[in-house]
Amino acid sequence: MVQTRVYSDRAAMAFAAGDLVLKRILAALEASRRAAIVLSGGATPRETYRLLARAITDERVPVKRLLWILADERWVPVTHPGSNEGMIREALLAPIGAPEDSILSWQAGSGDPVERADRYGTEVSTRMAGGDRPDILVLGMGADGHTASLFPGATAILSDGRRMAVCADIPGVSVAVLRRDGTWRLSLCPRFMNTARLAAFLVADAQKREKLKAAQHRDPDVPASWIRGEETLFLTTREVQGDGTPDLGGEVRFA
Ligand code: 6PG
Repeated sequence: MVQTRVYSDRAAMAFAAGDLVLKRILAALEASRRAAIVLSGGATPRETYRLLARAITDERVPVKRLLWILADERWVPVTHPGSNEGMIREALLAPIGAPEDSILSWQAGSGDPVERADRYGTEVSTRMAGGDRPDILVLGMGADGHTASLFPGATAILSDGRRMAVCADIPGVSVAVLRRDGTWRLSLCPRFMNTARLAAFLVADAQKREKLKAAQHRDPDVPASWIRGEETLFLTTREVQGDGTPDLGGEVRFA
């Protein structure tokens, strides 16, 4: 099922997103011993993570039963201001007292990116053994249509050294990505992300309007099109969607 939910503004979207993730965590804990959550970095989800931290604390969610996976990472240490892990720790994981062994870190910024990516994929596979799937996948989208660190025109460097264009079919769980500007990224692969029960995109900048529409219509040239969970939600704002009842490639709800 693909659905777009349009909110009046960023604050309303962030609140709804935090509530959605909390509800899916509680549902997962009802159904099983653990909830696995994949989070993206960037600026958009920060407020959602802050609100989620408060809700997890207020609801006394057993944080020992949560597993936190990072969708991608820049090639910087966690102390760097651009670190996704650093932002997610500050906004969410530290405030809830997430145990260290519940946080899967890319250990980015030192060593070899390809080795780091491979090691992360192995760790994710080990922690998600037995066919376990992410309960929630929180993604953003860039104005170029990228999501996680799947950038259009970038090169994926596989653990065996093979190179391929970033695409929907990158093998494995995780991969090192060499961008056209020569910078490194580390990213989960679509094949793993698409095992998620729920994929929720948070998109709030008007400049992303065209690429969001392309992603909703599964334009194969737009990396955000490659990601579909068992359920997929696009949470966005009226500013992005513009006026009128847009054709968004699926059910639309105005909240
Ligand atoms: C990152 C993110 C990336 C992000 C988009 C949108 O490393 O930056 O994982 O995929 O979701 O770039 O970022 P904004 O939310 O800051 O626009």
